[in-house]
Amino acid sequence: MQSITARLAVRAQGRTPSPIRELVPLMKIPGIISLGGGYPNPETFVFSDVEVRFKSGAAIRLTGKGLTEASQYGASDGSPAMRQTLVEWHKHKDDVVLADNELVVLNGSQEGLFIMAYLFLDPDDTVVVSEPDYPGALSAFGAFAKGTVSIPLDGHGLDTTELGLRLAGLTEAGQKLPKFVYCVPNGHNPGGVALSLERRKELVALCERYDLLILEDDPYQLVRLEDGPMRPTLQSLAPERVVRLDSFSKIFAPGLRLGYASGPAEAMRQFVLFKQASNLHTSSFAQALLSEFMRTAGYDGFRTEIAKSCVLYRKNRDAMVAAARELLPKSVSFNVPTEGMFIWFELPEGCDAKRMIELDTRTDLVIAVPGSAFSTRGGLRNCLRASFSMVTPEEIREGMVRMARMLDKEQRRAKV
Ligand SMILES: Cc1ncc(COP(=O)(O)O)c(C=O)c1O
Repeated sequence: MQSITARLAVRAQGRTPSPIRELVPLMKIPGIISLGGGYPNPETFVFSDVEVRFKSGAAIRLTGKGLTEASQYGASDGSPAMRQTLVEWHKHKDDVVLADNELVVLNGSQEGLFIMAYLFLDPDDTVVVSEPDYPGALSAFGAFAKGTVSIPLDGHGLDTTELGLRLAGLTEAGQKLPKFVYCVPNGHNPGGVALSLERRKELVALCERYDLLILEDDPYQLVRLEDGPMRPTLQSLAPERVVRLDSFSKIFAPGLRLGYASGPAEAMRQFVLFKQASNLHTSSFAQALLSEFMRTAGYDGFRTEIAKSCVLYRKNRDAMVAAARELLPKSVSFNVPTEGMFIWFELPEGCDAKRMIELDTRTDLVIAVPGSAFSTRGGLRNCLRASFSMVTPEEIREGMVRMARMLDKEQRRAKV
């Protein structure tokens, strides 16, 4: 397997750590007198006491040393308390044990997408993405390289047979292979599907055969709409070639901007170098809130809280599925999501969801995102992403009544 360093884009090669930030862990040694850091004096910090109460009934209080740490600059890979909590959480959730240098706390998983693109993509590189895919990832990748190898998505996730054919084709033609495979394995945004266990294994086998890295972006893993065991993460199947992104946006509070990357130490080292040059570290305050909450709730307790939130999403998913089955024409197809917040609707060929929204949303008063917003090739015009996260079951049903009306007009326009 080629080393992580050998895969870096030109811009990321030969970078050295910030000499000052590298001293941060040393400043924490008990008894040390630090004349090194340019930190502001904690006596000047504005907070005296912070108490946060949670809907679960739990409460946390930041005072004294804890509050000073939450208000102060911190280490680029994350606060020690947060990192220890996350290592334990990761083991609890995924049954994967991370070493201390295999985890970096991020400003949400979006930061991880950008860092991966920054680190690995030269302008003539490509990334494997699905068609459709999450626009936030496409724009992060597109900031550094324009090329994608777009692989269709079906009810079982990324079509790995098609990926195998494309990789074989590129190899035969002597063309450059993609830098990594981007994959949202659960509750795909916008596809609303999960990668089946069989496909997970096939994907890993392909990446081993062609020596590709995998970027596993899994913000919907715990937004579970069905009971039963979780599928193994791609990281658990191939830890040496997967950079995994976990997010607290959908399970804690998106505004705190918290997530973490985990993966090979060599890759995480590069993530830290990026953070040193971009934002120094993720907010100490946000990390303190999350790590204190997780410590107070316990990992099972946190999972129980997350499962309670999922009840709302399940109800809404069920309402959308029932209304779609009852009200939309049979020519419209969709998969029932097992995680996440989205259903992807495929209208008959010839329909144009963007045109439909532009012409009819103002009168029919319902909106969804046209499929073309998720395409790397200006395709998917006959598709639509509907989200069930921010509406009530009643609004979902009424929304589907209105959607059926719009669709009827669009089908007549498209003459299908
Ligand atoms: C697939 C996917 N990846 C990443 C993100 C970004 O998440 P975060 O809030 O953790 O940055 C989103 C947000 O919607 C998403 O759907």
